[in-house]
Amino acid sequence: MAVLDRATRRLIDGLKARVKILTALVVVLAIALTVMTVLYITKDTEPEKEQTASAGSSSVEDDVTSDFPASSDETGDATSDDKSSSSKKESSSSTSSKVSSDSTAANATPGDSLDSWNLKLVNPKTPLPNGFTVRTEKIKAAYARDVGMLYDARAVSYLNAMCAAAEKDGINLLVISSFRTNARQTTLYNNQVKKQKANHPDWSDEQVKKYAATISAYPGTSEHELGLAVDFNSVEESFENTKQFQWLKTHAAEYGFIMRYAKEKQDITGVIYEPWHYRYVGEKHAKKINQLGYCLEEYIDYLKNNK
Ligand code: DAL
Ligand code: ZN
Repeated sequence: MAVLDRATRRLIDGLKARVKILTALVVVLAIALTVMTVLYITKDTEPEKEQTASAGSSSVEDDVTSDFPASSDETGDATSDDKSSSSKKESSSSTSSKVSSDSTAANATPGDSLDSWNLKLVNPKTPLPNGFTVRTEKIKAAYARDVGMLYDARAVSYLNAMCAAAEKDGINLLVISSFRTNARQTTLYNNQVKKQKANHPDWSDEQVKKYAATISAYPGTSEHELGLAVDFNSVEESFENTKQFQWLKTHAAEYGFIMRYAKEKQDITGVIYEPWHYRYVGEKHAKKINQLGYCLEEYIDYLKNNK
């Protein structure tokens, strides 16, 4: 009896030990699963990771263009006309719950009504709503200086088509800045403020900030955050003397793009002359805007008055 009892006890002890091991395993698995889930969620809600880009220039009229953070040109130092696609920079590829990068996204037809996505006005007086989101897609790698540059998914095919057409004509259009997160725009704006403060030590903070915003838009007021703007090749005024600029002048509207910040419209747009910055509005509107000689602000007023 005593022997049996000992055997039974050993059996029970053995079973207990196994149960303990199993329980420990389940706990470890549950912890691992929780950690993995948290990591996954964190990754998906992180703001868009961005690449380095250029920017800038030694000139005051410096867009400090860069869609992706942090690297040598974060401060807005000159990189000049960087067309070396061989020097493409890597970015962590970008998807988030806010901004998705979906290569299968269909392109939408541009609309004609004032609330159509392609006519959305963003400027110093018309900021984007808080928490604005847009679905983006990667720009075709051949036309993007940095890996994974993003653009509004509804218009990316028009951008790619325009770059392809230019390529056919022997013109190398290279996107050096496209969609920017609000965080990225904030960094660029803050950098611009620092730069202008250094350039104008006698100016008040208010003067500096106001001027900086005409070069790098105040966060929430940039068309780059809207996802419909791109900067091509070089953020220097001398871009207007390039064959790329000439090509864009002739053909951009055919693909639905306008040069957004004309020299003679600075008082209306609130932004310096930027011959490198193009904005998608749709072919019909782009052609009409050029024909009328308007900037987007004037064109929207015109549409409002001619409803
Ligand atoms: N450079 C233009 C105004 C921008 O930052 O969106
Ligand atoms: Zn721009």
